[in-house]
Amino acid sequence: MKGLILVGGYGTRLRPLTLSLPKPLVEFGNKPMILHQVEALAAAGVTDIVLAVNYKPEVMVAALKSYEAEYGVNITFSVEEEPLGTAGPLKLAEKVLRKDESPIFVLNSDVICDYPFKELLDFHQKHGGEATIVATKVDEPSKYGVIVHDLAVPNLIDRFVEKPVEFVGNRINAGLYVLNPSVIDLIEMRPTSIEHETFPQLVEKKQLYSFDLPGYWMDVGQPKDFLSGTCLYLSSLAKKESKALTPISEPFVNGGNVLIDPSAKIGKDCKIGPNVVIGPNVVVGDGVRIQRSVVLKNCQIKDHAWIKSTIVGWNSTVGRWARLEGVTVLGEDVTVKDEVYVNGGKVLPHKSISANVETPQIIM
Ligand code: GDD
Ligand code: MG
Repeated sequence: MKGLILVGGYGTRLRPLTLSLPKPLVEFGNKPMILHQVEALAAAGVTDIVLAVNYKPEVMVAALKSYEAEYGVNITFSVEEEPLGTAGPLKLAEKVLRKDESPIFVLNSDVICDYPFKELLDFHQKHGGEATIVATKVDEPSKYGVIVHDLAVPNLIDRFVEKPVEFVGNRINAGLYVLNPSVIDLIEMRPTSIEHETFPQLVEKKQLYSFDLPGYWMDVGQPKDFLSGTCLYLSSLAKKESKALTPISEPFVNGGNVLIDPSAKIGKDCKIGPNVVIGPNVVVGDGVRIQRSVVLKNCQIKDHAWIKSTIVGWNSTVGRWARLEGVTVLGEDVTVKDEVYVNGGKVLPHKSISANVETPQIIM
């Protein structure tokens, strides 16, 4: 089996984190986002994974080469000279993807869920059509691709509308597909969109089906959704009674759903949780309160800091009695001075903040 992960784009919506690291390498639940997908593909029997890249490939190559042996997969990079969109990369990687007749998994790199690839493949093979899209329901369908059904044939897609202006339904494309290799015949070697060009052709041929995703789903390509997705991911770990979660019996754990790397140090009288991820080597002082937030590796959170709905970027320092909230994102190596308040600030890497930021803004 083969898989292709679409990892192009500059990840601008996840700035300032993506000013330091390509989006797929940003840790989600203390693991590079893309590693969740590589693991799930490997577990479903995929042996060849193509990463379709057009931005900072060197960094990605270095990080991903180490996964090959670990997960027993071949990872190849398909580097685009110009961005080829969401379908062009399939044509570019045709050689690997058509090495045999088995179906191909295609993934957007910024979606998280429980990746039910085995069930998906099973479903795909049973209906016998050329392609299957994983579908999920959302409240705000206008920022996604919407799937409309022909009720006569179960799961056969009747219409696919990318980012509809008017409401057509709330079942959307979750950004995960299984395609027969024959789908590549529909794609030309130029920048082209699977959503705008390939799916409508498959609909026309009555070859596009949808598979309902069980469980949670989120596109974590922007800070607000990254935080919501983190909550969903942690709840899912809790349901699975994952040993990775920090036990609720720890005195500092408040409300559960807390994932703390074993190398992190937590001070006295802290209240951490619910829904918190703390990365490796983070040092948390005394009396700190953190909820609904992610603290990436090597950060220092000083005594009595109060952090809610915030992403603290790598190597940053949050001062004593500082207060961060409102989807604040600190880039890499940011310092927030003692007693400073930040509400919804997006702080660029290597900055030091010594005055309050009362309203959401970018701090350069
Ligand atoms: N290699 C490559 N080249 N990858 C690309 C390119 C490119 O030129 N452009 C985008 N990608 C990758 C992105 O990195 C991402 O993994 C995926 O293709 C989708 O691009 P996004 O920019 O994240 O699209 P979106 O979130 O607005 O919409 C897509 O995802 C939704 C689900 O999250 C669409 O597929 C929607 O239909 C879908 O509902
Ligand atoms: Mg996206």
